[in-house]
Amino acid sequence: MDMHPDLEQVLFSRERIAARVVELGRQISDDYRNGNLLLVGVLKGAVVFLADLMRAITIPHRFDFIRASSYGKGTASSGYVMLSGQIEHHLADYDVLIVEGIVDTGRTIEALTREFTRSGARSLEVCSFLMKKRPRAVPVVCRYLGYEVPDRFVVGYGLDYDERYRHLDCVGILRREVYEL
Ligand code: IMP
Ligand code: MG
Repeated sequence: MDMHPDLEQVLFSRERIAARVVELGRQISDDYRNGNLLLVGVLKGAVVFLADLMRAITIPHRFDFIRASSYGKGTASSGYVMLSGQIEHHLADYDVLIVEGIVDTGRTIEALTREFTRSGARSLEVCSFLMKKRPRAVPVVCRYLGYEVPDRFVVGYGLDYDERYRHLDCVGILRREVYEL
């Protein structure tokens, strides 16, 4: 597929993404073989990653979703994370693995960690497809990480700018002209 004209650079092709997801799935399957795994996808950005990851995991597991939003229309976090939606599972019965598309400031993961700890998750870890290389006020430990990315705004593979570009099968850096008017 040709590069989308709004992208400045493709960071990860569909093929590279697929290969990394298989590795993550293998690692997770191994680590949780004696556990009771529940993947909790962070809507909406993690939907595409979650769909691929669950099929790369070879042990029985379940999944659920939670909605987190902090960005609105912009390309910088508002600093305030809103969680919404209902987890259907009783977290105390599960080894919870948060599945996120990208970690930036770390505030979303911080809010989710607080929430799921309060709900009594049996264990709690984070799997993020991407993580920005930047200083972070809130330290985030991703037990499973796909790739590090530069501190730029990236889209594709579920990640959006103003709800666009989620369907791109690669991850790329969005041209500044698209959001700096
Ligand atoms: P954090 O709370 O600042 O770590 O941001 C995490 C959330 O912000 C992610 O779940 C994304 O929805 C969004 N986000 C952060 N950086 C980007 C980006 O470069 N592209 C698209 N979404 C982003
Ligand atoms: Mg977004």
